[in-house]
Amino acid sequence: MNRFDRMTPAHPAARSVDEITGSRRLRRMRKAPWSRRLVQENRLTVDDLIWPIFVVDGENRREPISAMPGVERLSVDLAVKEAETAARLGIPAIATFPYIDLTLRDETGSHILSADNVINRATRAIKAAVPEIGVITDAALDPFTSHGHDGILRDGIIVNDETVAQVAAASVAQAEAGADIVAPSDMMDGRIGAIRDALDQAGFQDVAIMSYATKFASAFYGPYREAVGTAGLLKGDKKTYYIDPANSAEAIRETEQDIAEGADMIMVKPGLPYLDIMRVLKDEFQMPTFAYQVSGEYAMIEAAAANGWIDGERVMMESLLAFKRAGCDGILTYFAPRAARLLAG
Ligand code: PBG
Repeated sequence: MNRFDRMTPAHPAARSVDEITGSRRLRRMRKAPWSRRLVQENRLTVDDLIWPIFVVDGENRREPISAMPGVERLSVDLAVKEAETAARLGIPAIATFPYIDLTLRDETGSHILSADNVINRATRAIKAAVPEIGVITDAALDPFTSHGHDGILRDGIIVNDETVAQVAAASVAQAEAGADIVAPSDMMDGRIGAIRDALDQAGFQDVAIMSYATKFASAFYGPYREAVGTAGLLKGDKKTYYIDPANSAEAIRETEQDIAEGADMIMVKPGLPYLDIMRVLKDEFQMPTFAYQVSGEYAMIEAAAANGWIDGERVMMESLLAFKRAGCDGILTYFAPRAARLLAG
């Protein structure tokens, strides 16, 4: 008797597969394209896509972002062209993020309040040229502060209430420029309620709030910080305001709070590593729920595809479908126009 005999004794009464499964064979419905189509549970459509774009001052200006191949910062005139393309592809909304000239950044991010900052000019230009596309603005200070934080920094502390007042005022400026949805991403306490009040008092009852309800203190934002020019500025980390990636009960409490304060839509960020959070929030709250497939996720897929290690197109579509399966109603993704083209055939 050798050692293999001991490990694999002959089984005199091995069961047949039919005996094991009770004749249930799940592969039956997978046997052909028509039957797979028939039983498919989730589907990605162009209606699910929100396209984040980066805008910068200037004219006819396009600046590549090295860690996000295929993504560029665009001057307002070119952003309008991209919005036209997005509308033609059927993409329902775009989300804008600014690169602010370094000379315009300060301790409190005051330039965010300017009616003429690049975000507000982009909104006006896009809504004038392509009124049918939704414009979502990032009500966040980080591209505007000299330290790259999303809050006002006093003696090394991100001060909550002063930041909330600033973000609420910024939201009104964005609504005045024509934003359809404002999306505060700073995770300060009380920001949703304060923004709702400020919008309502200014007569913007119809401007919606997409809450970055659960934003994790994540390393997946790396390439974004190059895109908005905060990578070299940021001192320390954002752990005093974003959620610990280890926590999910806290994500529920955060989201519950934002909904109570008046959030119209909730979002989870980053995307793929946090599908469990999306599922839990959708089940718990039944709210319009969105995922943000962030810059680092985009970069990883692009890098592996560029090396020929994965089929980039298939991984892109599979990753987007995964958000639907996790319960999301839509996805903010830098892949939006590419996915839309593929979906259109
Ligand atoms: C900050 C903000 C971040 C992103 C969008 N807005 C992250 C951060 O620097 O904290 C990340 C988006 C991405 O990585 O694609 N307000």
